[in-house]
Amino acid sequence: MFEIKDRDAMGRIGKLKINGHKIETPTIMPVVHPNPKKQVVPIELIKKLTDIIITNSYITYSTPKLREIAEEKGIHELVGFDKVVVTDSGSFQLSVYGDIDVEPLEIVEFQEKIGVDVGTILDIPTPPDVERERAEKELEETLRRAKASIELKKEKNFKLLLNGTIQGSTYLDLRRKSAEEMGKLDFDIYPIGAVVPLMEEYRYRDVAEIIINAKMCLPTNKPIHLFGCGHPMAFALAVALGCDLFDSAAYALYAKEGRYLTERGTLHLENLKDLDRFPCSCPVCSTYKPKEIYRMDKKQRTRLLAEHNLYVTFEEISRIKNAIKEGSLWELVEERCRCHPKLLDALRVVRKYMDFIERFDPVTKKSAFFYSGYESLFRPEVLRHKKRLSRLKFDKIYITTVSKRVEKPYSENLNLIHSDVDVLVIDDVFGLVPLYIDTFYPLAQSEVPDLFEFEKEYNKPFVKEFIEKYKDKILDITTYNYYINYYNSEANKNKINPDALRIKKMLQYQYGYDIIDDGLMKKITIKRSKTTGRIRYVMLDGKTLFSIRSYDNLLIPTEEGARLLHKKIPYPKYRVVVDREVEEFAREGKSVYAKFVVDCDEELRPYEEVLVVNEDDELLAFGTTLLNGKELMEFNYGIAVDVRKGIK
Ligand code: GUN
Ligand code: ZN
Repeated sequence: MFEIKDRDAMGRIGKLKINGHKIETPTIMPVVHPNPKKQVVPIELIKKLTDIIITNSYITYSTPKLREIAEEKGIHELVGFDKVVVTDSGSFQLSVYGDIDVEPLEIVEFQEKIGVDVGTILDIPTPPDVERERAEKELEETLRRAKASIELKKEKNFKLLLNGTIQGSTYLDLRRKSAEEMGKLDFDIYPIGAVVPLMEEYRYRDVAEIIINAKMCLPTNKPIHLFGCGHPMAFALAVALGCDLFDSAAYALYAKEGRYLTERGTLHLENLKDLDRFPCSCPVCSTYKPKEIYRMDKKQRTRLLAEHNLYVTFEEISRIKNAIKEGSLWELVEERCRCHPKLLDALRVVRKYMDFIERFDPVTKKSAFFYSGYESLFRPEVLRHKKRLSRLKFDKIYITTVSKRVEKPYSENLNLIHSDVDVLVIDDVFGLVPLYIDTFYPLAQSEVPDLFEFEKEYNKPFVKEFIEKYKDKILDITTYNYYINYYNSEANKNKINPDALRIKKMLQYQYGYDIIDDGLMKKITIKRSKTTGRIRYVMLDGKTLFSIRSYDNLLIPTEEGARLLHKKIPYPKYRVVVDREVEEFAREGKSVYAKFVVDCDEELRPYEEVLVVNEDDELLAFGTTLLNGKELMEFNYGIAVDVRKGIK
């Protein structure tokens, strides 16, 4: 019921099917009061903005009038919303009042009875920083309730889907344990709980660590809901860390206090009242002047502020989705995290987990890498380049620097002749950039300003370590010049084909194996674009092996190229193994569905070019994987590999 359509960082655009309704994630579920009289924004407006809302089953249960209607006509009738209705269980009331008057299984049963689409177990939201013993005990109780709730649902054949909330207070190992144990139970959505007190105190760093630690142990194929996060300022970071759903009571709660939400923080109507217009163009802000709203009676003022708050909340979700599609989510996160030092603190702690995050970050993006500050130095794209540098086989290395005025790719704009010497340019952001592969995303597709000295320090240990590792292969300037002169001399000019050498190195970097051996080196040729002069095709005996994609310069195989990769790359590397059942579909060039993946290279990253094979490693097709290694094994819905061509 959940599949990934598009992605960036750990964020994903997902399709979630609930009771016949299709919900596109990430999205926000406005909190709707079960008592329509207490609902601040008319449900009609909410219907226009969303197909999914969240309300409270415990308030419904414990208010006789509401309960009667809900039991008789159902929750959808009660709140006046006919799409997806999610309910919370009373856990939040439990955390605020210390006690509630319902049994854990009773509230699950009640949610089923009133026709809720997605219900929630009665988890215990342990506050931050409590004694470990309490956090452990309450987590054990939440896990017991979770198991009992899932058993009840199975036993009685309940229709409702269930939220299984992750708890564990601020103990990250308990959060991981909670995720591990809950992940074994068949919940439909995994909310991350008890972050409201942290959000209220702007403890975004703790929230970020809690999200990441939960994500490390949760199944990848279920949507994640960040419970109680309703401020649009925090959405981009939370999405980039893998949250798919949010709920917002904030739009109404803030409005009651005269607070005006923006994607950069909260403003007060009091301080806005002298502006001639609002800094927003939503229907509310383009209709009223700040002073007019300021002078209204409280009820009307609250409603209009709440409407504005809701508009900007959805606006930020749209902006995030667009950033995912463009591949610019990190840029948006870096921008948002500069709106509050505590958000910046959260972005900085993410660095600790980059090895994990990098596994989910796409290998190619449609937009260029924009450097926005020190934190850009530890983005996943940078880390991946450093990891993949060790895929290259070096024989003779010459390390140099390049003037900041030289445009990227350096190899096109510098007269550093290609011979059998690998010229590596020291790069402020990527550490070291080999000229043979410097057209690849993001090495050439990056915009970097002049860095401060302290920023340049960041990569020095990496460069030093590289030099140490390869010290026997590094040439000094005299030796380098000797090789260049040797290469340029008439007698040796034809010995090495620099284009073939470049292709050999590019394939080493992209796939981690030597695809072009010495025999092929002599035989392959290239075709250049007439307009740009850049390499477009790699040919062998008149047939195209690879084309070079213009926006990221990745090598895209043809059928011949795929056969070559299959021969040269050992199993199971760069393989997605499918069930016999779909072998013929794959051979016909149809997409490979996640459900039929039986094995794969666990190191695959999203959007890599892969080989589709059967269990005997016979080549069936080739294409682009939308999922990483872990997801390929875990997802049961949606497309896994977008097949370019089947092989008969
Ligand atoms: N709403 C906000 N936080 C929580 C939580 O931890 N659990 C539940 N069930 N609802 C919440
Ligand atoms: Zn507005």
